[in-house]
Amino acid sequence: MAETGGEANPDHPPAAPTRVPPRFRGRVSRVLIPERVLQRRIADMARELARRHPPDGELVITPVLNGAFMFAADLARALGAVSTLDVRFEFAKTSTYGEALGAGGDQRRVQIDLQPADVVGRSMLLVDDILDHGFTLCALRDRMAGWGVRHVQVCVLLDKQLSDPSPETLAQRAKAAPDLIGFRIPDVWVAGYGLDAAGALRQLPGIVAVDPEA
Ligand code: IMP
Ligand code: MG
Repeated sequence: MAETGGEANPDHPPAAPTRVPPRFRGRVSRVLIPERVLQRRIADMARELARRHPPDGELVITPVLNGAFMFAADLARALGAVSTLDVRFEFAKTSTYGEALGAGGDQRRVQIDLQPADVVGRSMLLVDDILDHGFTLCALRDRMAGWGVRHVQVCVLLDKQLSDPSPETLAQRAKAAPDLIGFRIPDVWVAGYGLDAAGALRQLPGIVAVDPEA
């Protein structure tokens, strides 16, 4: 059963305009999750991971790049503060491409850059920034199952509550099945803390909502 930190609070103040490049100033509508709330939840998540893994074991943290780099770094540091786990890193670079292919057709290809020799036979924690339609995590879970990775857990910072998901999308999200979730957020585009809007805004310390380009 996934554990979650609850809903993001939509009533936070607007993003500090000085932290946003000029071309995004009119489009960053609000801070969904401020830095201190993120960091507090990440400390909780690390304590939960420490409870779930034997303290004398090894854990291979696999950040799903690009979006998860900041979250994975903070989570690993928080874990190091509460656990003696032997933490290792192997990075998975993913990219998703393809069209939605009409009725029921949420078809995307997910390219995964990770070597089996790095993870097979080990206990693995996939760390991703956000669960949206579930393409990325399903593809990673399938690939790890095909390789026979011993034990795979999935941790995501954000779980986007899609407003009108198709049955196929619901099934895919169910299969992605994160074991640990930071926050549930509404169905809006978000950026900051590693997540991007058109390649930008990854450097923001909190999570902001970004309006679609006018
Ligand atoms: P999924 O494969 O459809 O679940 O999408 C997951 C990937 O899409 C994430 O790992 C992100 O890289 C990206 N993504 C989905 N929604 C957002 C968003 O709101 N902001 C930034 N990136 C997103
Ligand atoms: Mg991603």
